Amino acid sequence: MSRLESMRRRLTAQIEGLNWAAAQIANLQGDVLELGLGNGRTYDHLRAGLPDRRIWVIDREMNAHPSCVPPEADFLQGDADRMLDRMARAGTRLSLVHYELGIGVPEADAVKSRGLSPLIAPLLVPGGLVISQDPLEGFERIAGPETVADGRYLFYRA
Ligand SMILES: C[S@@+](CC[C@H](N)C(=O)[O-])C[C@H]1O[C@@H](n2cnc3c(N)ncnc32)[C@H](O)[C@@H]1O
Repeated sequence: MSRLESMRRRLTAQIEGLNWAAAQIANLQGDVLELGLGNGRTYDHLRAGLPDRRIWVIDREMNAHPSCVPPEADFLQGDADRMLDRMARAGTRLSLVHYELGIGVPEADAVKSRGLSPLIAPLLVPGGLVISQDPLEGFERIAGPETVADGRYLFYRA
């Protein structure tokens, strides 16, 4: 498989995972968190699918496409650990976290995602979801949509 085909497969899994998660949280209270704004593609997809939810965004940098810049009040610029701690102290409750802080280096990315897991868990309402390409700890791993092959994208429930 070429890298281009691999990228298409990853993006398809991501879109289907985000759509699935947005439908799953329909009956849950709580905001949404985009962990890793980057160019803003997945943030844009989330806000299109969840127009009535507040979507918090954490990133240490602002490099989003101009059409995908979150409202100032919802963008927490800084290192994820400090920003997650700030959300916890503010009492924010989340129904869905999309985690994408990885840089495509699996071992380093997994160390980061596992390390941040204990800071994500307290923010979630019971039954809240985390979806991620990188592994998290302390959540129940669940099956996602049938169209996404096992392990291509990871789905967790609090
Ligand atoms: C792969 S990009 C996110 C892609 C994005 N979801 C999109 O659809 O365009 C990862 C982002 O995570 C941010 N990031 C990585 N580690 C971070 C950390 N520890 N704290 C805050 N931001 C971090 C980077 O600045 C980068 O913008």
